Amino acid sequence: MTQSNFTPRVFSGIQPSGGLTLGNYLGAIKRFVDMQNVGDFETVYCMVDLHAITVWQDPEKLRHNTRELAAGFIASGISPEKSILINQSAVPEHAQLAWIFNCVARMGWMGRMTQFKDKAGKNAENSSLGLFGYPALMAADILVYHATHVPVGEDQKQHLELTRDIATKFNHDYGVDFFPLTEPVIEGAATRVMSLRDGSKKMSKSDPSDASRINMTDDADTIAKKIRKAKTDPDALPSEIEGLKDRPEARNLVNIYAGLNDQTVEQVLADVGGQQFGTFKPALAELAVAKLAPISSDMARLMSDPTEIDRLLAKGALQAREITAPILKKTYEIVGLVGN
Ligand code: TYM
Repeated sequence: MTQSNFTPRVFSGIQPSGGLTLGNYLGAIKRFVDMQNVGDFETVYCMVDLHAITVWQDPEKLRHNTRELAAGFIASGISPEKSILINQSAVPEHAQLAWIFNCVARMGWMGRMTQFKDKAGKNAENSSLGLFGYPALMAADILVYHATHVPVGEDQKQHLELTRDIATKFNHDYGVDFFPLTEPVIEGAATRVMSLRDGSKKMSKSDPSDASRINMTDDADTIAKKIRKAKTDPDALPSEIEGLKDRPEARNLVNIYAGLNDQTVEQVLADVGGQQFGTFKPALAELAVAKLAPISSDMARLMSDPTEIDRLLAKGALQAREITAPILKKTYEIVGLVGN
């Protein structure tokens, strides 16, 4: 069965394991909004709370972070009218299909996942079984919707390859053409936003240094200050992309500018080539504040009414289950599970 046999459907998720960063925004959410608005797809966006608990989460903080992430989605332009917005645990078919996929995926595949190795570190024996099986749940998130496209940042590429491997093995083992081979969508100028303090490290909510990242809840002054202090080199900006080679910090700031302004890196360099950082950084700070401050103030407004957020998520879960329940039922039939 080819992709064209499936309804064009986008699924993507973000962990509510801390605040949202500019990396999440440019690498993921902003592109979720674009894919929602082109109108070519059904779009489903998810707070993956079951993934978050693969490492310890304080329950009170998890509740707060999940609602704040929902607020971040909506404030960034995800419309609960146009997209299905859900919390993963509220749609039980994700975890149910994940169990089937735990029985399809191989230990060796999981052991090769770089994100598991990074997160488990030297202490793999002591990490949760859930952290090891994390990519099977991620494959279930996607395939329980028969999603055809998944927008993500660069760091999720390996997990999406594994999702295709799981779909292929399931289809092959059971002699069916049931699950699609989902396309990763890793596009745009900012698929890998780097730390503002070290251009060789990914911008991350788990970095101990708050100055390394822009949080979506940062106010205008904080955003501007972090950009002013971002690590750079002493040279002027080049006019051509080749001039950014071996200049990871410069490249990162140009990528961020391009991502925020919906431009290509080439277009940005054509405008700013020759500028010193003393000129470029204030322009970037102004752009970042113009784009991000309205989102952070809207998030704060939405967070003042958590009951409304919960209502939207409950509505999303009902819509989602109309898609997921029949796909799970059919999967059970294929596998030979009876009485469902
Ligand atoms: P998570 O929560 O780590 O990140 C959410 C999304 O943000 C992107 N991202 C970045 N993009 C560019 N630069 C960065 N510095 C940066 N940091 C994060 C990530 O690539 C991701 O797209 N496993 C996933 C969550 C997940 C999922 C799914 C995603 C669970 N099920 C199904 C897609 C489909 C994760 O941990 O993302």
